[in-house]
Amino acid sequence: MANPSLLILAGDGIGPEVMAEVKKIIGWMGAKRGIRFDVNEDLVGGCAYDAHGTPLTDATMAKAQEVDAVLLGAVGGPKYDKLDFSVKPERGLLRLRKEMDLFSNLRPAQCFDALADFSSLKREVVAGLDIVIVRELTSGVYFGEPRGIFKEGNERVGINTQRYTESEITRVAKSAFELARKRGNKVCSMEKANVMESGILWRDVVQEVHDRDYPDVELSHMYADNGAMQLVRWPKQFDVIVTDNLFGDVLSDCAAMLTGSLGMLPSASLGAPMANGRPKALYEPVHGSAPDISGQGKANPIACILSFAMALRYSFDLGEEATRVEKAVEKVLADGVRTTDLMGPEGGTPVSTSQMGDAVLAALDASL
Ligand code: IPM
Ligand code: MG
Repeated sequence: MANPSLLILAGDGIGPEVMAEVKKIIGWMGAKRGIRFDVNEDLVGGCAYDAHGTPLTDATMAKAQEVDAVLLGAVGGPKYDKLDFSVKPERGLLRLRKEMDLFSNLRPAQCFDALADFSSLKREVVAGLDIVIVRELTSGVYFGEPRGIFKEGNERVGINTQRYTESEITRVAKSAFELARKRGNKVCSMEKANVMESGILWRDVVQEVHDRDYPDVELSHMYADNGAMQLVRWPKQFDVIVTDNLFGDVLSDCAAMLTGSLGMLPSASLGAPMANGRPKALYEPVHGSAPDISGQGKANPIACILSFAMALRYSFDLGEEATRVEKAVEKVLADGVRTTDLMGPEGGTPVSTSQMGDAVLAALDASL
């Protein structure tokens, strides 16, 4: 049988640095566990624009559609801020999400015990936190038409459209309920049904899907602004949160920071099942390209490493190996290994990106 295939799109800024550490772990899986991947690499974002004048070529898009999973680093940087909107680095990522139809974006926010004091919130609020935000990723205001900047009389008007169909809400709601059944069996759906029609429909459809197919799962609804407040007040009240594209973007950054560092949070973007039964999938850290620290060996590779662990679990049915990677990360943190972003007020000596990767490798070796 052919090896499972991976397309690595490391992207811009710290993307290639953190991805280098993931490549070490991919190599380790082959050498020590006999789990080999066919790895292909390509460009996305600003680096693709530099090489080809577009943030994602059709050829790269076609490759992404072919492979079992895509691993993405990060896109964007100040160098590209002035580019025309249609060729900005972010458009490459958004095209991948849209054309692969990756409608369900899983963003876990898990607080590692060793880092509970790094959160801006009190230890008791975040210790043991383990929630997942399921963000709708292919619709809503990110993609709705009409959109653009138009002339109206003698001024300009900027327009974006929040639009959701029943089927789009249904499929992401299902993925949230399915996930909840494997965890704490609780879903909280967030929208603004008090001010938006699309929010009213969202709430109705989530409730209908629940009543029809998932009555065993506990379901609640919350306005998204209250949800943001509850996330910082007492995040442990949640298990799975399901929400739209824009609210999910904002709420997931908030949830990520609860855990102490944005450098810790992985994500999986999943679509419909392929011929082999596995979902179409792209895995990426929640953090961005961090141009302020790129090229200095300061980036924390853990979010990217944990994104690969999610790939092992969701794309390759290698849950045990995923847990092995997660446990290795936990051990390294418990041992006090810290990149710069994880330095507390008491200071200490941070390790570099590659030293962090090596520490995870050593912990993996010790797990055998
Ligand atoms: C994210 C990012 C992206 C988004 C950007 C880079 C387009 O913020 O994945 O959360 O807004 O979705
Ligand atoms: Mg974001």
